[in-house]
Amino acid sequence: MSAVRGEFSSRFGFIMAAAGSAVGLGNIWGFPTQTASNGGAAFLVAYLVLAFFLAYPALMAELMIGRHGQANAVSSLTKLTTRPWQKQFAFAVGFGGILCAGFILSFYAIVAGWMLSATLEPVTTLVGADAASLWLSEQSLTRNILFTVLFIILTVAIISRGVENGIEKWSKRLMPALLGILFALIAYVMTQEGAVEGLKAYLVPDFSSIFDPTLLVSALGQAFFSLSLGTSVMIIYGSYISKKENLVSLGAYVTLIDVFIAFVAGLLIIPAMYVAQAQGVEIFSTTTGKLLSEDTLVFQVLPALFDGMGGVGLFVGFAFFALMSIAALTSSISMLEAPVSYTVERFAMKRVQATWLIGALIAIVSIIIVCNLGTLFGLVITLTTKVAQPLLGLMCCIFVGWIWYRSSLLKAIQQGNPDVHNTLFWKIWPWYTKFVCPVAISLVFLHSLLS
Ligand code: PHE
Repeated sequence: MSAVRGEFSSRFGFIMAAAGSAVGLGNIWGFPTQTASNGGAAFLVAYLVLAFFLAYPALMAELMIGRHGQANAVSSLTKLTTRPWQKQFAFAVGFGGILCAGFILSFYAIVAGWMLSATLEPVTTLVGADAASLWLSEQSLTRNILFTVLFIILTVAIISRGVENGIEKWSKRLMPALLGILFALIAYVMTQEGAVEGLKAYLVPDFSSIFDPTLLVSALGQAFFSLSLGTSVMIIYGSYISKKENLVSLGAYVTLIDVFIAFVAGLLIIPAMYVAQAQGVEIFSTTTGKLLSEDTLVFQVLPALFDGMGGVGLFVGFAFFALMSIAALTSSISMLEAPVSYTVERFAMKRVQATWLIGALIAIVSIIIVCNLGTLFGLVITLTTKVAQPLLGLMCCIFVGWIWYRSSLLKAIQQGNPDVHNTLFWKIWPWYTKFVCPVAISLVFLHSLLS
């Protein structure tokens, strides 16, 4: 065990860090594009309901496990167990989550690398370096490898500085920057022709599709990915929260911020698509009438929109991709923290060494994926986000609902919240995590396997 464990120095620091983990490409890219391709506002309504009624309880389960355990995911889960089989189960879930976080980072870093190169491209265009702009905007193996590795180095640089000086400090800087850029971009897009039509598509629901099972599956998957569940990330962040804090409200803040930013990102991306359409850019496929696929949307439709804006488009494009890169970075630091905290505590390794070692391993996996983009990229995304995340999230609910003794759970949650036993939360949540969450998550998981 390392001698001194890090801890978030303030409530605000924790909220920024956990919200930083939650708010990522999933919110700013995934949510708006899923909304646009799944019946607009109907998806939004389903997402809101599922985020608050299923993902928030599951988030609380993970935060509770971590805060109680005050250690990495494997040790925190093991602390709840009494029988040998439970200990093995704890290891499988904790280590599975850590692996899952590592693999998510290995594809996330590739996408984040695309965002970084797209952020630089307006700069090279502005200074007239046309060859560099062309290189930055075209898919190539060297460009992809270079920017993926660059992004991993950025992540490593932050994580190697530890909890307070690394994660907390940078989340407190980057999250407000992200909000500022997001609102500035929305204000700009709203002045453009076509924006109101986009707003309508986003905000006026077509209720006929709201109970469509595919829509529900996508909305729950999106909510789980967005709250970083099933990756042991929230267990480890929970372990850095002081026992004086009220976890119930902290978890609620994080969920609210995450959902709010996804909603606000929709106010940017969907109107921006319609603005692009008003300028003659195609956003729906002419053959199927469906929304163009997600990566085409972000890397072709939006750049086409920025190009059409003339000189100001360079600045708007820069701001947009900087926003994406920042969102990706605050999420990726949480992904790297999961394996790093385990390695530091389990093998008594120095944080800096552990961070570079794991960063290097993840970079190797990323490069293998980059070299086999057609086959591995989609596969890793499916296995981690559609299979591992829901299953591991489900297991955490099982730990809290079925393995953790109720009296010990109550004691843990009373720390920082002494009257919790009189609240609606305590009347509903334990029962919810025991029955409703496992059943609902299993149903969704089975459905996603079958479809
Ligand atoms: N929640 C992040 C997003 O929305 C992704 C993430 C998944 C982060 C798993 C950490 C762990 O982009």
